[in-house]
Amino acid sequence: MGSPHWKRLCFLLLAGLTSSLLLYGHYYTTVDVTSPADPPLVSSPSLLQPEPLVLAPPGTSRRAGSHVGQKVDPGWRLNRGPLPSQPSRCPLSVVARAKADPTFGEIFRFDTPVLMWDQHFTPETWDRLKTRHVPYGWQGLSHTVVGSTVQLLNASANRHLFDRDTFPGGCVRCAVVGNGGILNSSRQGKAIDAHDLVFRLNGAVIKGFEEDVGTKISFYGFTVNTMKNSLIAYEEYGFTQIPQAKDLRYIFIPSDIRDYMMLKSAIQGSPVPEGSDKGDKPQKYFGPEASAEKFKLLHPDFLQYLTARFLRSELLNTQYGSLYMPSTGALMLLTALHTCDQVSAYGFITSNYEQFSDHYYELEKKPLVFYANHDMMLEAALWRRLHRAGIITLYQR
Ligand SMILES: *[C@@H]1O[C@H](CO)[C@@H](O)[C@H](O)[C@H]1NC(C)=O
Ligand SMILES: *[C@@H]1O[C@H](CO)[C@@H](O)[C@H](O)[C@H]1NC(C)=O
Repeated sequence: MGSPHWKRLCFLLLAGLTSSLLLYGHYYTTVDVTSPADPPLVSSPSLLQPEPLVLAPPGTSRRAGSHVGQKVDPGWRLNRGPLPSQPSRCPLSVVARAKADPTFGEIFRFDTPVLMWDQHFTPETWDRLKTRHVPYGWQGLSHTVVGSTVQLLNASANRHLFDRDTFPGGCVRCAVVGNGGILNSSRQGKAIDAHDLVFRLNGAVIKGFEEDVGTKISFYGFTVNTMKNSLIAYEEYGFTQIPQAKDLRYIFIPSDIRDYMMLKSAIQGSPVPEGSDKGDKPQKYFGPEASAEKFKLLHPDFLQYLTARFLRSELLNTQYGSLYMPSTGALMLLTALHTCDQVSAYGFITSNYEQFSDHYYELEKKPLVFYANHDMMLEAALWRRLHRAGIITLYQR
């Protein structure tokens, strides 16, 4: 059991259990990712849906197409609470570029709330979100746990990812660093660290890879499941601790009641009182400094909007539909796109992903692992299109 190989195998079994199934790539064999010309975006069934999608709750029968085009209540538009009042002063921002693009101009909705904070926890929001399963809502979750967690997010820092006033230069430049093998020997560390803010996620190994991935870290994004799995699976590559630093902020993706429980305990600085992480000390992951300012919570409406408009996978129409969600990397990149002025993506899946190892820190090349709950080919197509539209800069080689 001590050998790295076994640890990895155990992790895969673990991940397989939580995701119910691992796909072995054959799911995607019909997708020709190397085709030189992508089909026009407007004809893609996965993008450009005029209305947000209602993601059917688990156990609901999924007749093909039964939920497509269904309208949802516009509650989050009417009841989104106060928005951060910090408009960008950057002339060449993501917002400007997206709005100028005929296709993406129709997809982006920059008025969607990105984060959730105390004022969002109202009876109306509860009634609306309790009808959607995680991560898009609160179906089946304890009102007490969710409410007491969200109500702790009462600092002004919980309402925005960062304070624009600290970037007087105008344009806030962000790098989002995925863990893809493309970064091995890339020597992009300096370029990454030159950004104002750097997002990292899951098994973000830095030590020993500084030249390739840099050292700066402003945000670390995760679900409790992916964070703990990363500590197990990538321990052999030196990922023995969640990154910690004074100015580092943690972005919780609320994919399970575990995430709300861990977040609450982290702010309170106390062990997790119940559930599958019972007894876990949040300080072990996030360091000794416990305060609401340190933590951000993605809004379930934001996750719903991202999935419906940017990453509406065909997997939603399969028996795994209720498990599907965009990958942690995709959620971080899209979060950056809705908050930063300029966004560079490093270590994300590219058309030639087969040339690279799964992660940049593996010692020998391992093929990319496809999980049943993600759609990496759809994500790859989205990054390619955003890059071509000049909305992101995707690192490729
Ligand atoms: C947030 O809530 C906590 C606990 O209820 C309270 O002690 C604190 O003063 C509040 N902070 C702000 C900024 O309102
Ligand atoms: C990383 O890059 C080096 C140099 O290009 C190469 O020799 C090595 O095989 C790569 N490692 C993996 C895991 O792909």
